Amino acid sequence: MFGGKGGLGKTTFSAAAGYHLASQGHRVLVFSVDPQASLSDIFRQDLFGKGPVKIMDNLWAQEIDADQRIKAYQDEIRAKIREMYGFTDLPEEIESYIKAASAEPAMEESAIFDAVVDIMVAGEYDYYIYDLVPLGHALYYLSMATVYDAWIDKITGLREQMREYDQVAAQIKRGDSVLDEDAILEELLYIKNRIHTSSSILTDRERTAFFFVLVPEEMIILDTVKAAELFSRFQVPIAGYVVNRVLPTELWTEEIPEYLRHRIEMQGQYLDKIKETFGNQVIARVPEMERDITGLPMIARVAECLFR
Ligand SMILES: Nc1ncnc2c1ncn2[C@@H]1O[C@H](COP(=O)(O)OP(=O)(O)OP(=O)(O)O)[C@@H](O)[C@H]1O
Ligand SMILES: [Mg+2]
Repeated sequence: MFGGKGGLGKTTFSAAAGYHLASQGHRVLVFSVDPQASLSDIFRQDLFGKGPVKIMDNLWAQEIDADQRIKAYQDEIRAKIREMYGFTDLPEEIESYIKAASAEPAMEESAIFDAVVDIMVAGEYDYYIYDLVPLGHALYYLSMATVYDAWIDKITGLREQMREYDQVAAQIKRGDSVLDEDAILEELLYIKNRIHTSSSILTDRERTAFFFVLVPEEMIILDTVKAAELFSRFQVPIAGYVVNRVLPTELWTEEIPEYLRHRIEMQGQYLDKIKETFGNQVIARVPEMERDITGLPMIARVAECLFR
């Protein structure tokens, strides 16, 4: 996962890391839940809501469309209610309840979370690169696993208790101990298992690496330190820091305008500060290129800087 404040290079490095790993022969999926569709921009292909799209040998990219997920979700809920309660048509009240619930912001979050879990649990790739949304929001998604986990635990526990009572009641009434399969409990256990699987992947140091992207600027350094503290509290395995947009030092020897000299000096100061703050956790420095990063040849150049 690549995380960091807005616009610092998360999508760029996600694409570059995907490119690098795919070139080494691993099957890789780069995916995002960002409605801004920036993977589409960098790979120069319309990916939004299209499922995994092949970019080159071994490399796929996917942009999840949350709205589409919510519609699928509604249908799934309708089907489950029909099945569990034996309705042929849903009563009006339930239909309007489903519609109202779907308008909730939490519905979008959980549809997105669900889509990410789907991708991870399916296990069709060697590497998954999760191109995250800017920091605050990313933490929200990551913490969701912990929150859902606790919530589902509680509900499952309650349901199990209820089932015990049901069983006693059934025995008294009919004198038998076999109860119909509890569809709700089964559904809860299924969800619980999915959340456990995905949150254990997300917090497993052996399998997951989270990289912070930053640039040599004062505010960004301060914000990154704060964010790193928060992330480690949620057991996100921080694997290193990547410094982006470093002005090439080769410029220094040439006749350069005052303006540029100042910028290079300023960056030098903050690069020292970064070294002081993060030490050998800084795993790469990527130069400011002469143009924005779109298309495979530019992505390949960034990958070279990232993995050299
Ligand atoms: N080293 C670089 N040299 C030149 N341009 C760069 C470099 N790194 C990133 N860019 C450009 O900066 C812009 C922002 O990068 P990118 O989209 O990767 O950031 P992001 O962190 O994913 O942003 P967001 O928070 O909006 O998702 C893009 O236009 C990208 O091409
Ligand atoms: Mg991005």
